[in-house]
Amino acid sequence: MDRMLIKDVLTNVPIGTAVEVAGWVRTVRNHKGKNPLSFITVNDGSCFSTLQVVATPTLPNYETEVVHLTTGCSIIVKGKLVESPGAGQPVEVQADEVHVVGWCDPENYPIQPKRHSFEFLRTQAHLRPRTNTFGAIARVRSTMSLAIHEFFQSRGFIYLHTPIITTSDCEGAGQMFRVTTLEPGQEDFEKDFFGCKTNLTVSGQLEAEAYACALGRVYTFGPTFRAENSNTPRHLAEFWMVEPEMAFCDLTDDADLAEEFLKYIFQTILERCREDMEFFNKWIDENVIERLENVVQSEFVRMSYTDAMEILKKANRDWQFPPEWGKDIQTEHERFLTEETFNKPVIITDYPASIKPFYMRVNDDGKTVAAMDVLVPKIGEIIGGSQREERLDVLISRMESLGMNPDDYWWYLDLRRYGTVPHAGFGLGFERTILFATGMSNIRDVIPFPRTPRWAEF
Ligand code: 4AD
Ligand code: MG
Repeated sequence: MDRMLIKDVLTNVPIGTAVEVAGWVRTVRNHKGKNPLSFITVNDGSCFSTLQVVATPTLPNYETEVVHLTTGCSIIVKGKLVESPGAGQPVEVQADEVHVVGWCDPENYPIQPKRHSFEFLRTQAHLRPRTNTFGAIARVRSTMSLAIHEFFQSRGFIYLHTPIITTSDCEGAGQMFRVTTLEPGQEDFEKDFFGCKTNLTVSGQLEAEAYACALGRVYTFGPTFRAENSNTPRHLAEFWMVEPEMAFCDLTDDADLAEEFLKYIFQTILERCREDMEFFNKWIDENVIERLENVVQSEFVRMSYTDAMEILKKANRDWQFPPEWGKDIQTEHERFLTEETFNKPVIITDYPASIKPFYMRVNDDGKTVAAMDVLVPKIGEIIGGSQREERLDVLISRMESLGMNPDDYWWYLDLRRYGTVPHAGFGLGFERTILFATGMSNIRDVIPFPRTPRWAEF
């Protein structure tokens, strides 16, 4: 007899089958009296549901062990799958054997069977996956990861691993974590491990461009690091980003890809994570399923930054940051556009060059660049992308005007020297996408072990 996952026991196994499962006890009810009986619910993480196990004194360890089980104990159960006479579950297991693998001190176990605040659970990040919410998030995160690979691989994109340690600052925002083996106080980078200043990557884009300019379509999916001191529910110091890059493409192709991509991811979790999504809809955000279904069916709004500014200026509002051409779009503006004006995702294009990085293609007006941000209700920006500047002279003069040294980017400029092509790509913030997909409200709760200012525990 092979060990089975509870998700299979609950869906694929005929009544009467002998089964063996292993998991952690969620609840125990011991009935004393004439016919003693114990109901043990077990979860093994394979699905949201628990499996009910019925144990009786015929088990040799019933009095010595089974009746002493508590929440959090790990057990292996062998028994027969039967129809459940009780309400609440269609099937249950009549135990022939219950092996206690690990006891769990009920006095000190932090994850008692009751509702805990997310703030408390953040301090128990090693145990919080045993709760309903964090188990569901982990499964949705995993399913979304697979959907991302499916989406790109089925469209001929090649999965690329870009370096985590780099010498370049892709976004030019100076929010990088230094990587060094120098002793504190030493400043001679010649003597450093790599013989130069290095940092953790803020984006794999520049390297992805090199491969797109050879393989046509590539994508990265990996961790990125930003030392921005933003203590918000939408910022992490370590987060995962998906960065596709396409040669022979322009900004419209890029926006088309982003829209199709988001719809595919959400459609997939609606189909494959039904039980987890119903849990989020019931306990976390009562509109989350409807919101995702709307996104899948909707046509995203596309408008220029300049037009968006006009809408914001006309809105009769007390803004914290009054909208003004040339200034960045703030969270309050993003929410106004996505939640109040359009009530669906909005793709904003053609931002002022002055607020965007060096690599974005300069438009004919000389003032704006071929950038796009995808904004969604509740979260704001989840994708940032652009068409890249493919003209060598324009790129060099843009770098110089930003005070960058083109020699530092000699290899990036080579891509424009030798067989340059129009190309475009974007970066999807994976955790922000999970926030949107689950209805969770703090980004620290959708990555297993969050890293934020003054927090790197576990
Ligand atoms: O807009 P960003 O900075 O774009 C880039 O890094 C480009 N190089 C991408 C590209 O064109 N290949 O970041 C992309 C996305 C944002 O839209 C946001 O969703 C997410 O990454 N993001 C963060 N997520 C969590 N915590 C942070 N500190 C984030 N910073 C950006
Ligand atoms: Mg951005």
